[in-house]
Amino acid sequence: MARKYKLGVLGLGEGRSIMSAALQSENWELVEICDLSETLCQKRIEEFKGEWSNPLYTVSYEEMLSNSDVEVIGIYTPDQLHAKHIKMALEAGKHVICTKPLMISLDDANLLLDVQRRTSGVVFVGQSSRYFEPALQQRKDFLEGRHGELATIETHYISDSRWFLNKDWSRCSGFSWMYNFMIHAVDLAVWYLPQIEDVYGVGFTSENTLEYNLSVPDTFKFILKDKNGKCASVSGVYAEPTLGSDVEQSISCTIRGTKGISRAGYPKLKYYTNFEPIQKTAQLHDYNDKHEYYFRFEAENHHAGEYQNYIDDFALCLNKGEIPKPDLKEGIRTLAVMEAMNESVNSGKVIKVSDVLNRRNIVIN
Ligand SMILES: NC(=O)c1ccc[n+]([C@@H]2O[C@H](COP(=O)([O-])OP(=O)(O)OC[C@H]3O[C@@H](n4cnc5c(N)ncnc54)[C@H](O)[C@@H]3O)[C@@H](O)[C@H]2O)c1
Repeated sequence: MARKYKLGVLGLGEGRSIMSAALQSENWELVEICDLSETLCQKRIEEFKGEWSNPLYTVSYEEMLSNSDVEVIGIYTPDQLHAKHIKMALEAGKHVICTKPLMISLDDANLLLDVQRRTSGVVFVGQSSRYFEPALQQRKDFLEGRHGELATIETHYISDSRWFLNKDWSRCSGFSWMYNFMIHAVDLAVWYLPQIEDVYGVGFTSENTLEYNLSVPDTFKFILKDKNGKCASVSGVYAEPTLGSDVEQSISCTIRGTKGISRAGYPKLKYYTNFEPIQKTAQLHDYNDKHEYYFRFEAENHHAGEYQNYIDDFALCLNKGEIPKPDLKEGIRTLAVMEAMNESVNSGKVIKVSDVLNRRNIVIN
């Protein structure tokens, strides 16, 4: 049997999902958890006591990093702390699984690339929406060529997420709807068009966000074009009422190709395709039988099945001597696309991703 990777989890809000994933995996052993809140550490230990035979917690990240049994750190702290916590993990000789967004800007990109070169730890970005069942099926169909030549991509992430602004750190400098939320839609677009070069878009800050004393845009529409002229449209709306996910999936990715089309989304476990022989109406593939696998806790606001899929994929890649993706370089390139998006909103101009990378002296090829 393949060996088990030993995990330490930092941040126990969303970190709860990777705890569940590790405890249910043949590839992982949960060794230690850490949160500044001792009450939350104890709550998680109580919650998983039936599954976790040797529970261990600490309120000190340094202490968890000094535990030589821990090989991989799962980082689920507020967005603004990711760069610092990744650096600390790499310097302690650990591999890293970091939730999205990898970072809140490119400011620390070269620093992390440098630390990674020195330490050779693996950094994997937990872009969860790549790992939802319909997204996995869509990727498989794409790689099998069922769409023919890719013509265009449409992605969105639309959700009324004003509830998120009740978190203290979401109203602090460094939080933005774009980096925290829209990154899911951007990541899906660049997964299929990895060489995005030209970026144009508009953004708008509604009264609903201003009410929280935040002045970051909450509504966006973008066109991203790659070096071969293929384009994606990417949109996001975060502080306005929605139609609800029965009518409009929160996250959606449509791939249009010369031979077929598909649409995958979240949170409904539905996948639509129209491949050759083309029909008048798309075929629905319903994966609702996997609902309990993906959504293990109350409601649908934690989605541990995606974390299960990505940590098992991480382990499989390491076993094969491959680097799990998206890695640090891919994550940084996605952030460069997002910096270009921000710049386009502010300037009203088309922005080149290569100019963003050159200006910051970031070399990732
Ligand atoms: N789909 C997804 O992948 C997904 C979904 C939700 C949240 N997230 C990401 O997960 C991260 C956490 O979000 P959340 O909703 O759980 O936030 P949260 O505020 O509920 O949890 C963050 C936790 O980190 C702890 N923490 C902060 N600094 C710490 C430190 N120095 N040492 C130890 N613990 C520390 C806090 O005490 C808190 O319990 C964010 O980056 C968010 O973007 C990802």
